[in-house]
Amino acid sequence: CGIVGYIGFREAWPIVLKGLKRLEYRGYDSAGIALLNKGDLNIYKKAGKVKELEQYAEGKDLDGTVAMGHTRWATHGAPSDRNSHPHTSNSGKLSIIHNGIIENYATIKEELLSRGHQFTSETDTEVLIHLVEEIYNNHDIDLFEAVRLALNEVNGAYAIVIMDKEQPDQLIVARKGSPMVIGVGKGEYFIASDATPIVEYTNNVIYLNDNEIALIKRDDLTVKRLDNVIQTPYVQELELKLEMLEKGGFEHFMLKEIYEQPRSIKDCMRGRIYPEEGKVQLGGIKDYADKLKNIDRIIIVACGTSWHAGLVGEYLIEEYARIPVEVEYASEFRYRNPIITEKDIVIAISQSGETADTMAAIEMAKEKGATIFGVCNVVGASIPRITHAGVYTHAGPEIGVASTKAFTAQVTVLTLMAFYMAQQKGTISSSKLRELLTELDCIPEKIQDALKSNELIKTISAKFKDSSNCLFLGRGYGFPVALEGALKLKEISYIHAEGYPAAEMKHGPIALIDEEMPVIFIATKNSSYEKVISNIQEVKARKGVVIAIVTEGDVEVKRMADYCIEIPESQEAFLPLLATIPLQLLSYHIAVMRGCNVDQPRNLAKSVTVE
Ligand code: G6P
Repeated sequence: CGIVGYIGFREAWPIVLKGLKRLEYRGYDSAGIALLNKGDLNIYKKAGKVKELEQYAEGKDLDGTVAMGHTRWATHGAPSDRNSHPHTSNSGKLSIIHNGIIENYATIKEELLSRGHQFTSETDTEVLIHLVEEIYNNHDIDLFEAVRLALNEVNGAYAIVIMDKEQPDQLIVARKGSPMVIGVGKGEYFIASDATPIVEYTNNVIYLNDNEIALIKRDDLTVKRLDNVIQTPYVQELELKLEMLEKGGFEHFMLKEIYEQPRSIKDCMRGRIYPEEGKVQLGGIKDYADKLKNIDRIIIVACGTSWHAGLVGEYLIEEYARIPVEVEYASEFRYRNPIITEKDIVIAISQSGETADTMAAIEMAKEKGATIFGVCNVVGASIPRITHAGVYTHAGPEIGVASTKAFTAQVTVLTLMAFYMAQQKGTISSSKLRELLTELDCIPEKIQDALKSNELIKTISAKFKDSSNCLFLGRGYGFPVALEGALKLKEISYIHAEGYPAAEMKHGPIALIDEEMPVIFIATKNSSYEKVISNIQEVKARKGVVIAIVTEGDVEVKRMADYCIEIPESQEAFLPLLATIPLQLLSYHIAVMRGCNVDQPRNLAKSVTVE
């Protein structure tokens, strides 16, 4: 879900509307905007897309130079016009937009009901603005103070913007656990949940910290902590460029991002690998170089696609650095009282750097004394700010909800980390490292080659677009690739898909195989090649249809499989970087052919800031 706000001298409606469109990639199911105009508070909100809100508001009063807008991803209450933000207070004078969750809203609501408040929605957000008004009305204080006091009473996570129709020259914003960026202009301020709506107006931004609250006027900004201590905001320059947010001639962001991978991986490695010297440098974790020599264990925590990257990381770190690794779903890890000690290093992987479960897992591990490394894509996001050290993936903004270039960049960073750790521990010879790095340096070009199969993949996609189930199988490094391939297909095409270790197939999924069932094998030439071939035979013996990802020039698999897609030969450790590419294209084309909304699949969000 997303937040956009504006206070200044320009018409606010177009700025906020465009901002909401820029945030569409984050995923949402309803949208709303509130405007202040000469003592009027006008609120327009609608279930559905921003476009529907735009149509609905046509011809209505859209004037005003102060506004705030919201896209909502339902947590409490169904997506409906009524539950959409902004919400108003009991008197209707105050209005709020909110990302996150107020956990103790039920208790507060009960208390407010007993004091005669009436609610029009089922949301926790409405309760919060009613609480603010209750405090405001019963004390001799200004609204800024009332919001601060109210926030001291709530538990949960939030990024909020509040406006008051009786004080049309100010906005109040606050954050705790949910991101908030303030763009600084001349006589104007922009507010958003990430920098994408702001970049076309200004490069100067302030990232509000957790537990901070700000009073924003056209020419003035006051920031306080929730405990009432005044803060000096730190203005920084954005690295984001507007072109990065446009489709650049591609039909979808996802396709653009798939094609960006040769570049994004190069950016990710820049200044970090020195093939000739056989050396890896990771400035972000260098202060821990000594600690890495003696650690007993690494725990990787992540969600979704990032978790798949974590699995690849496990294989790499164990193989090269010989450090035991556990890979955990952040949401499970945080609730099961895991054993964590000061000796552990936790690597938290997150594209957005905002995922609530991953954040909570980090906080817990930190409390128990572990050292936390972040692997994030969005610079300045919450996770990189709470970790001890980390390595950015530098893939650039990823707009498609289904992760593509961020995944391969995460895998690249984990590869570098594994090599770096191996280098520190002395578990790899410099000649071996030189050989690996020389090959890694060629991966961007090899990805470029892999992309050449696009037309072939399109033809294959046309054959399978009507399937209702699909199985992805791989072994070794091919296993996480199979999981990621299956996730991609189900996310964007809504075809049920499962990823499995190829050998496990005989313990269950084999029962599903018939002429209807496409089975996608990662069958490249590596240490498990022969074994995968036996698995392909098992599928063929049951009349399954086989699509295989094979190494260039392969003959053996080609004899058995119904369709083959070639990728360039490489070291086994780099298989995930190459084999993922055709699977991304396969899901992309199938989803397009099925008429799905590829960049914004139903029910999914790019940045999941609720648990
Ligand atoms: C959401 C996205 C996925 C992503 C996951 C974890 O579910 O739709 O693409 O893999 O969150 O997000 P993160 O930003 O932590 O990598």
